[in-house]
Amino acid sequence: MTDSPVVLVIDDEEIIREALEALLGADGYTVVSAGTAAAGLEALAARRVDAVLLDLMLPDRDGMEVLEDIRRIDDELPVVMITAFGTIESAVEATKQGAFHYFTKPFKNDDVLVVLRNAIERRRLVLENRELRDRLRSDTHRFDDIIGGSAKIRAVYDLVARAAPSRATVLIQGESGTGKELVARAFHRRSARADKPFITVNSGNLPPDLLESNLFGHVKGAFTGAVYPKKGLFELADKGTIFFDEIGNIPLETQAKLLRVIQEREFMRLGGVDTIKVDVRIIAATNVDLRAMTREGRFREDLYYRLNVIFVQLPALRERMDDIPLLVQHFLDKFIEESRKPAMILTPAAMDRLMSYDWPGNVRELENVIERAVVLCGDREIDVDLIPDHVSANPVFEAPDAVIPPEGIHFREVIIGHERRYIEAALEAAGGVQKKAAELLHIKATTLNEMIKRYDIRPRRRKGTGDARDDETLEPEGAGETSGG
Ligand SMILES: Nc1ncnc2c1ncn2[C@@H]1O[C@H](COP(=O)(O)OP(=O)(O)OP(=O)(O)O)[C@@H](O)[C@H]1O
Ligand SMILES: [Mg+2]
Repeated sequence: MTDSPVVLVIDDEEIIREALEALLGADGYTVVSAGTAAAGLEALAARRVDAVLLDLMLPDRDGMEVLEDIRRIDDELPVVMITAFGTIESAVEATKQGAFHYFTKPFKNDDVLVVLRNAIERRRLVLENRELRDRLRSDTHRFDDIIGGSAKIRAVYDLVARAAPSRATVLIQGESGTGKELVARAFHRRSARADKPFITVNSGNLPPDLLESNLFGHVKGAFTGAVYPKKGLFELADKGTIFFDEIGNIPLETQAKLLRVIQEREFMRLGGVDTIKVDVRIIAATNVDLRAMTREGRFREDLYYRLNVIFVQLPALRERMDDIPLLVQHFLDKFIEESRKPAMILTPAAMDRLMSYDWPGNVRELENVIERAVVLCGDREIDVDLIPDHVSANPVFEAPDAVIPPEGIHFREVIIGHERRYIEAALEAAGGVQKKAAELLHIKATTLNEMIKRYDIRPRRRKGTGDARDDETLEPEGAGETSGG
């Protein structure tokens, strides 16, 4: 709505029409008047209208019927009813039938202006929603399930589209919640392997033995408890794609075996003697800087180069803030549909809040905020009160004073010291519950768990728990999950 908003007045009393024309014209609206229902509907068909003021009693037809007709033409067009004294009941009925509001004659000018301003604002939001929905349907603003039209994310679409058909190994790097798994699935879906399995390996937090038996399978009797032979994830993924989530968590000794599979495309089951050949596409994801890990000797450099054939860097959400309205619309539609609620809009104030936050948890965090708002929202609007308090312009973090003594510092050690201290503090604040502590730190639970292990942070014993096991708060995730192509 770049031009002045257009208001259609349908009222048979000339005095009222003239009064409204003068009032609204002075307030910057373009006013179109009609003295009958027929003329009103004709005007509506002929031109753009942003709001209607509709008399409940017209000479040619009942205003309620006209309201119905307008609803049929444009369900989202705000209609404000004008009623004479004594017909308030019908006016109330009209709002139940979808009228935006009503006022009674004689009306106060200010009331009319306020109601109309709200109606036009709503209209603007609805049109904006429509435009966003159109964009959500267009190729330029989505790629499979990945939403976004910013230059940064479109560069990712382009890369996936070009590299997907090959068997080249892919390394996807990005902060938590940036959509690494979505991208991995897009690679699979757009390859000739699409109808073959896509197998996810949650690499984190498993002892090497268990991880390797998951990956490569084992023969009967390979170890105590191996009563039956078992296929590993590599075999299950044959002809398809295997996705290593959090590849940085894989222990060094397993990395060596992985390297061999990538190079030879063959391996042996644990305890086995036969070589098994597989044809798999390998995709790995990481939210840590793998390259830095290779320099620290925590990740094999040769494996890093093998994985890093196609490299996808996913932008953090704060690097593509202009995609937020689109993502919000996408998640609104999704959760509204899931909860079978009526259409809902986000107020401009609420959107401002979402746009002022830096989203450390990226798209996942935004998705959760919208889901919560839809669940808690009663009527048709989501306002700031439904956005969690912490979602706001971030206060600048007050880092402790940095002091460099004459002999210098060991940077890594100082940083690690800080990491330790904050992890311990968060664990303490969370009563030892890692999931809660991870939330406080705005990092993923698996990332926290990994750091706890790396720094060997022991949970402090809580009073009264007696001989609490050392690992009481260390709950590793499952090793692998399977899903069809
Ligand atoms: N561009 C996007 N468009 C739509 N949804 C997205 C997008 N990016 C992420 N999501 C959603 O956010 C959630 C997290 O995405 P995903 O699991 O792919 O992230 P991730 O990078 O693998 O995160 P993590 O490192 O924490 O595992 C999912 O629900 C996903 O559907
Ligand atoms: Mg993931």
